[in-house]
Amino acid sequence: MEHIYPIFDKMLARADKEKLLGQRGLMIWFTGLSGSGKSTIAIALERELHRRGILCRILDGDNIRSGINNNLGFTEADRVENIRRIAEVAKLFIDTGIVTLAAFISPNNDIREMAARIIGKDDFLEVYVSTPLEECERRDVKGLYAKARRGEIKNFTGITAPFEAPAHPALTLDTSVLSLEESVNRLLELVLPKITDK
Ligand code: PPS
Repeated sequence: MEHIYPIFDKMLARADKEKLLGQRGLMIWFTGLSGSGKSTIAIALERELHRRGILCRILDGDNIRSGINNNLGFTEADRVENIRRIAEVAKLFIDTGIVTLAAFISPNNDIREMAARIIGKDDFLEVYVSTPLEECERRDVKGLYAKARRGEIKNFTGITAPFEAPAHPALTLDTSVLSLEESVNRLLELVLPKITDK
C-alpha cells in the first residue's frame, strides 16, 4: 500500500538525536588487565561528564557478562564474540548520540580492531589502562589472580592467557602512578572537545 505520509517512514538520523541532546556520540574504549582500574575510571568519568550535562552509558562486565553475554566464557573464540556483541550494542548507543564507555579486557589488537571497525574508527577512542600485572595481582580485588596461580581458573589474562598492549592508544593511564582524579582529568581534557561545543 502506498503511504500517504512517506516522510513518516524515514528514521531520524544520529544528527537529529545529537542535536536534541546537545552532544556528540563517542566510544571511549578502555582496555587493560583485570583489576587495572578500567571500570573505576569509567565510573568516575561518567560522573564528571554527567555533572556537565552529558549523557553517558557504561558497558562493563557487570552489566554485559551477567546478561546479554552470560553464555560466553574466556576461550579466544568466546572473547571475540563477547567483544563483537559489545561493539554492536555500543554502536546503537553512539548512534543515539550517547557517550559510551566500555571497560573490557579486550586482550589483543585484533579484537580491539574488530570493535573499532564495527563502531567506526572516527567514533572510537582507545584508552589503555596500563597498570602493570604485578600491581593488578597485588590488588587482586576479586581473588582471581590467586585462583589462576593455583590453576583453578583456566585462560586467565596475564597469567595463562596473553594480553597484547595497544600500539597507539589515544591515552595511556597507569593507575599505579596516577590518582583517579588525575586519570579523569586527562580524559576530560581529551574527550570534552570531541563531544561538546560548550
Ligand atoms: S574479555 O577478555 O574482554 O572478553 O574479558 P571481559 O569481558 O572484560 O571480562 C573480564 C572479567 O572477567 C573476570 N574473569 C576473567 N578475566 C580474564 N580471564 C579469565 N579467565 C577470567 N575469568 C573471569 C575478571 O574478573 C575480569 O574482570 P575485570 O573487570 O576486568 O577486572
